Amino acid sequence: MGAYEDVFRASTDDPETFWLQAARAVDWHVAPTRALDATRQPFYRWFPDGELNVCHNALDRHVDAGRGAQPALIHDSPVTGTQRTYTYVELRDEVARFAGVLAGLGVGRGDRVVIYLPMVPEAAVAMLACARIGAVHSVVFGGFAPKELAARIDDATPTVVVSASCGIEGKRVIEYKPLLDRAIELAAHTPAKRVILQRPQAVAAMGPDDVDWVEAMATATPAACVPVAATDPLYILYTSGTTGKPKGVVRDGGGYTVALAWTMPNMFDVGPGETIFTASDVGWVVGHSYIVYAPLIAGATSVLYEGKPVGTPDAGQFWRVVAEHRVKSLFTAPTAFRAIKKEDPAGALAAGYDLSSLEYLFLAGERLDPETYRWASDLLGIPVIDHWWQTETGWPIAGNLMGLDPLQIKPGSPTKPLPGWDVRVLDISGRPAEPGVDGAIVLRLPLPPGSLPTLWNDDARFVASYLSAFDGYYLTGDGGHIDADGYLFVMGRTDDVINVAGHRLSTGGMEEVLASHPDVAECAVIGVADPMKGQVPRGFVVLKAGVDRDADELAAELVALVRDQVGAVASLREVAVVASLPKTRSGKILRKTMRGIADGADEPVPSTIDDATVLDALRPVLRRE
Ligand code: COA
Ligand code: AMP
Repeated sequence: MGAYEDVFRASTDDPETFWLQAARAVDWHVAPTRALDATRQPFYRWFPDGELNVCHNALDRHVDAGRGAQPALIHDSPVTGTQRTYTYVELRDEVARFAGVLAGLGVGRGDRVVIYLPMVPEAAVAMLACARIGAVHSVVFGGFAPKELAARIDDATPTVVVSASCGIEGKRVIEYKPLLDRAIELAAHTPAKRVILQRPQAVAAMGPDDVDWVEAMATATPAACVPVAATDPLYILYTSGTTGKPKGVVRDGGGYTVALAWTMPNMFDVGPGETIFTASDVGWVVGHSYIVYAPLIAGATSVLYEGKPVGTPDAGQFWRVVAEHRVKSLFTAPTAFRAIKKEDPAGALAAGYDLSSLEYLFLAGERLDPETYRWASDLLGIPVIDHWWQTETGWPIAGNLMGLDPLQIKPGSPTKPLPGWDVRVLDISGRPAEPGVDGAIVLRLPLPPGSLPTLWNDDARFVASYLSAFDGYYLTGDGGHIDADGYLFVMGRTDDVINVAGHRLSTGGMEEVLASHPDVAECAVIGVADPMKGQVPRGFVVLKAGVDRDADELAAELVALVRDQVGAVASLREVAVVASLPKTRSGKILRKTMRGIADGADEPVPSTIDDATVLDALRPVLRRE
């Protein structure tokens, strides 16, 4: 058997020994004597008697080991034309000082801090500062609108919000402070203070509860690492479910640190002194795990990039970053490569840079289509590694262990399950699907360390959303199959979650916004295939009886409404006014059938349909004929 099979089998045959062994890579204040606590099923806990501090593991221990002068974080920002490198000592000092700022504002162990920042190094500093004092951070992606931010503030009830005067999207300056002010007006909960990072591109007007980042740092007393229980929450990260109410995924510190520490050498093949460039955003799970925590826990150097793969200034920026910072592993979403390919189909810009340091390209966040796989692998001539995971899981469920035992790549497959993940495919009645046959992808409980123990303040929703469909299994919401060689193929979501440019969004949330318009009687939002973003949402609305509106004018109003209520990231650009929506006899809108027709499939008319003529009338609209 190969090393992959050995390791995978060890993790499933004797998880207790496997994970206690993995936990040795981490510094503990109190070392765990047990790995899994299964006494309160289906709520599992990892390392129940361990105590540690995640920030100590990310920063202080590397300084203590004499590697304080090594670069920890490189902020590379083509949109501002700046770069800044923090060594481990510098980053630790900055984090300790900001931890002192938070403590001075009354933030203590278990208190929440919402972070609404663009891709500036202060985002990582604020996250690690929370970890340092045992506070729980909740980072909200900058592309979300005030209403979405307000919903997260109300759920997390933070003591402090950390934000900035602005973010920069290409050449546009987006003022964040007015968005934050609006969110606080909308929210029922009022955070005691807001710490604002003033950026030169836009200076924010400050109110009585606003604290200037630089001024607060100047007088703060650095705070030490506080040991906390391994099971204490490190962060809450909200993600889209099938309704408009986001789910607060909880991450505990101990299991997460152990799992991330395991993946860095074994999967990403990045160790101390080597550089990883994860082109994502700290607002997403990929940013939490592989921009901030994992690279630092591993003692590596992480590039925090503020910009897009294309645009400002050109589609060669990823190559420039790789060459300038001697990047070994590049990690991004397939959509970024589709965007580069569109601008520079021959990859001519890559030829202008020395890419000899680059050994791997890791892609995740959405399905890696074989065409993008081939383009990237032909261009770079290095392994292009698809891997599959979710906000809930915190680290890859399936991938190819490049540092341990690289397996043959099959385009279209994220290869095989990583240790601890017992991945199965079930048919609709809960029986194992035959090899090669699509079904629901589920994970047998317990999930490994680092995965979500529950949803914030909502055990019931955790059970209802993930554990109720098939007894003893976590429902991923993805569909796909396992082939005869044990390779997994993830084909897409089976629920109303869509993936737009690697961003996870809820069509249900957008429908709630469309339905709130006074002229709309009913509506449907579906995700349709898009050559660059993978999927984009399309809206369909039926007007209330007696409403006579210009369809284009109303569509523009509805697009603006979604942008205002959900945020620019929703990318809803098309809304069609239609006479009626196809439904089953029990009144359910046939979204899956609509999606299939819009994507060009020859969808059979479902036998459950109420009135097939409605679908006939809609077909040309769906197909844009
Ligand atoms: N703050 C404010 N606005 C933001 C934002 C932020 N942090 N992030 C995105 N937006 C805005 C964009 O400016 C855009 O606005 P527009 O409609 O006015 O143009 C809108 O939200 C949609 O953004 P996006 O879907 O990212 O489209 P894009 O055309 O700006 O960029 C890509 C497309 C493919 C280049 C970009 O999404 C990308 O690089 N994605 C891959 C990496 C990644 O982030 N993956 C996430 C998980 S791994
Ligand atoms: P998020 O929680 O935002 O990370 O989104 C998770 C979802 O993205 C998954 O449930 C999948 O639908 C999709 N996804 C992530 N990675 C992959 C991949 N490698 N292949 C296919 N789908 C993926």
